[in-house]
Amino acid sequence: MAFDLEWVRSSLPDRPIHWHASIASTMIEASRLAVAGYQSGTIVGAEEQTAGQGRYGRAWHSEPGSGLYVSIVLRHRFVHSTLPLVTLALGLATSEAILKATDLACDLRWPNDVLIESRKCAGILTQLEGSAIIAGIGINVNHSAFPKAFTDLATSLRLASHRIHSRERLLVELAASVDRFCALLEKEGGEPILAMFSRASSFVYGRRVSVDQGHSLLKGTTAGLNSSGFLILQGDDGTKNVILAGGVRPCS
Ligand code: BTN
Repeated sequence: MAFDLEWVRSSLPDRPIHWHASIASTMIEASRLAVAGYQSGTIVGAEEQTAGQGRYGRAWHSEPGSGLYVSIVLRHRFVHSTLPLVTLALGLATSEAILKATDLACDLRWPNDVLIESRKCAGILTQLEGSAIIAGIGINVNHSAFPKAFTDLATSLRLASHRIHSRERLLVELAASVDRFCALLEKEGGEPILAMFSRASSFVYGRRVSVDQGHSLLKGTTAGLNSSGFLILQGDDGTKNVILAGGVRPCS
């Protein structure tokens, strides 16, 4: 279905929204706009990305017309050391927006995966551009299937609910939720975000997981988040490791 940009614009007045039929990656265009001085909250979105970016240099599957692929310029007074907290705040915002727009409840997997029934329905990528942060959010909305490589890992809001969902409504909720959680982080610091993420995620405490760190695979039980938003993993010998990055997966 054609994206009703006019309705989105009328619901988000005073906010620059740059919408593209096809683009390599909204991250690249949002970075360019950030350098050009565009205001906080500026949204770059696309119907299709031909080189959608995921974490660790992976590609983000961006089927035309099915998903929400957006990057938002953020100019809050966060200190740069809070980038992991911004990622957690964006996960909370994405989960809240999905709940409000679709009634679907999500789980959050540290640091940036939004899950329904253990499968990923949305992902978040944050990067710095000068003093701005570019928040890249991809939501699998109306995909009816995924390429074979992702079928066990990915889901869409449509597959999870057997209903088609409005990408426009989702974007309007997402913009409001991102504003709300970023304002909270700016005003009150990391504590409320850490507390909310810990409540919203089944992965923060007591989950047996493996963490792929590229060169090594760590196994252990999750034991909370530290004040910077990093995951604490307790090994079988009782030692605690702070996980700065890596793909977290449940394991036995
Ligand atoms: C991940 O989970 O690996 C992060 C995925 C982030 C995907 C979004 S889609 C919109 C924005 N543009 C991109 O190229 N990537 C992000």
